Amino acid sequence: MSNTKTPEAKLSSVMEENRLFPPSAEFSAKARVNAATLESLRAAAAEDTVGFWAGLAKQHISWQTPFTIALDERDAPNYRWFTDGRTNASVNCLDRHLGASGDKPAIRFEGETGDVRIWTYTQLHAEVCKLANGLKSLGIAKGDRVVIYMPHTPEAVIAMQACARIGAIHSVVFGGFSASSLRDRIEDAGATVLITADGGKRGGHIVELKKAADEALSGGCKTIEHVIVFKRTGQAIAWNEQLDLDWTTLLAQQSERCEPEWVEAEHPLFLLYTSGSTGKPKGIQHSTGGYLVNAAVSCQWVFDLQASDVFWCTADIGWITGHSYVTYGPLANAATILIYEGAPTVPDAGRFWKIIQDHQVTIFYTAPTAIRALMRLGDEWPEAYDLSSLRLLGSVGEPINPEAWMWYHRVIGKEKLPIVDTWWQTETGAIMMSPIPGATPTKPGSCTQPLPGIFVDVVDESGTPVEGNNVGGYLVITKPWPSMLRTIWNDNERYIKTYWEQFGNKVYVAGDSTHRDNDGYYWILGRTDDVLNVSGHRLGTMEVESALVSHPRVAEAAVVGRPHEVKGEAVFAFVTCKGRRPEGEEAAALVKELREHVAKQIGAIAKPDDIRLVDNLPKTRSGKIMRRLLRSIAKGEEITQDISTLENPAIVAQLQGKE
Ligand code: PRX
Repeated sequence: MSNTKTPEAKLSSVMEENRLFPPSAEFSAKARVNAATLESLRAAAAEDTVGFWAGLAKQHISWQTPFTIALDERDAPNYRWFTDGRTNASVNCLDRHLGASGDKPAIRFEGETGDVRIWTYTQLHAEVCKLANGLKSLGIAKGDRVVIYMPHTPEAVIAMQACARIGAIHSVVFGGFSASSLRDRIEDAGATVLITADGGKRGGHIVELKKAADEALSGGCKTIEHVIVFKRTGQAIAWNEQLDLDWTTLLAQQSERCEPEWVEAEHPLFLLYTSGSTGKPKGIQHSTGGYLVNAAVSCQWVFDLQASDVFWCTADIGWITGHSYVTYGPLANAATILIYEGAPTVPDAGRFWKIIQDHQVTIFYTAPTAIRALMRLGDEWPEAYDLSSLRLLGSVGEPINPEAWMWYHRVIGKEKLPIVDTWWQTETGAIMMSPIPGATPTKPGSCTQPLPGIFVDVVDESGTPVEGNNVGGYLVITKPWPSMLRTIWNDNERYIKTYWEQFGNKVYVAGDSTHRDNDGYYWILGRTDDVLNVSGHRLGTMEVESALVSHPRVAEAAVVGRPHEVKGEAVFAFVTCKGRRPEGEEAAALVKELREHVAKQIGAIAKPDDIRLVDNLPKTRSGKIMRRLLRSIAKGEEITQDISTLENPAIVAQLQGKE
């Protein structure tokens, strides 16, 4: 698989990828955007980019107070969009559909054990209003932070929408994160309310969310005044009379009407923590107005979202994809979304395909890691189900290798359906590069070209644009766009340093390397910073290192990524111990303990696949860890690089696991 190769090998493999799949005439004929529309959108965006976005913002979003200022650049790179306009995200996602689409399903939900619930727009609106009133009754007001730590159920969407309705800023923490990660995020956000559940149901197990929440709060989190607990599993849980409130009891006392809080466009809609190159996750801050514009518009352009669609984005609500393409984008378009709480292979490898058949899913959007995992289980699983409701497929989160792309195309798409490989980030808020399904010929493994209004470029080490095609370098976005992150919560300096400073505060530095081919198509080659992409989830190497060194036996740790057939990348840790290095069974026991320790510190997704206990880490004479060497070793490559600056060259054999 090409994605299991080094960047150089990846590059040569994608450069050999010449297959071109033009959009089908049948799809294009009915599509919202065909080649001619795309061309005119691009032309309009090129001529007056800010005016182009202002037009879309008026067309796609309902404003209580219309804006007159489209873009305020005075504090660039802290850009502000639609500043004097006022709106509300929940009104845009719910209220404005109540007339024509009130009885239309907004959410079709299926749990792992097969329980199905359907919420119409009217019902969803009522529930959101009740929770919003419940939050208000607790004294929560505009600008207060609410952390949501929920299973992937409709209640998570309700919680987000309820916050948006009253102008509270939500911060969703993925249910797979540990108590300690939850605590860090609550503290950084200064949240006063936590919304959680007794547990979630996944992979045949119960995910003990309340237990983790209790543990997070027991260690501090002085700001939390109330914990609202949704009873999903009905399991026995500890109950703290001072803090805990039952979701159902709270909502039972509330009215189904709640006047929205009209907020200025720049009012933060949410914070979402993501990994960076230090041990501390960054609270990415998104706005209300600008964020909604890109989330809503991209659903129409990229997914061709139509009134009759059943849209299934498999991402958990805890990630940006779950924000933009489960909650805000599709609901702003009055679509029907599907939410599935469980694992893809429960009770068997046909589960995803059965869900598509049973719910007549028309658009399916998932991650390459899921595609690769399902591909390995065999074609007989998808072939056993009727997938004829599908009309569009999507991919997100990491580079999709041509082999997985072709399988998706052949076995799921029956060689007819368009595939949109969408490149974007937590920070960009919405899709930045993707094929337009009725217009763009696709190539397996390429996210093709930027969307109208988005301008990207390739620059070299010095920030100079690399001219022409068939070139590579750092990926940058050259003009501001409405759904861009506004800052890092409580750390604007880090915002500027991370995303702007490298190339003179003029362009947004994405942190990815890219190749632009002869047709001007983009191929994402991977991160240029110390961020790993494990199963489409972002993890900072420093975060894992900090987790490891917090174990009493660990002296030092260095973490790198290594290619993995299914996950894309896997975590590989080199660890030195305090005192003697254990061997044999003692070493195996420690490795096991360390893996569990990392899971406890961060979450199961961060568990290293490999931990190698060594006497020393490879350092230069100035004391710098030679990470490039460790990356080569983790990949099992021949060591060709110069190791003469290594303080202790004899360590190499041990690092390679040879002694
Ligand atoms: O490296 C890119 C990769 O995922 C990173 C962003 O991760 P995150 O903020 O967690 O958001 C993931 C979901 C939007 C990017 O810097 N990435 C995302 N989509 C793609 C991708 N790499 C290649 N192709 C993609 N389609």
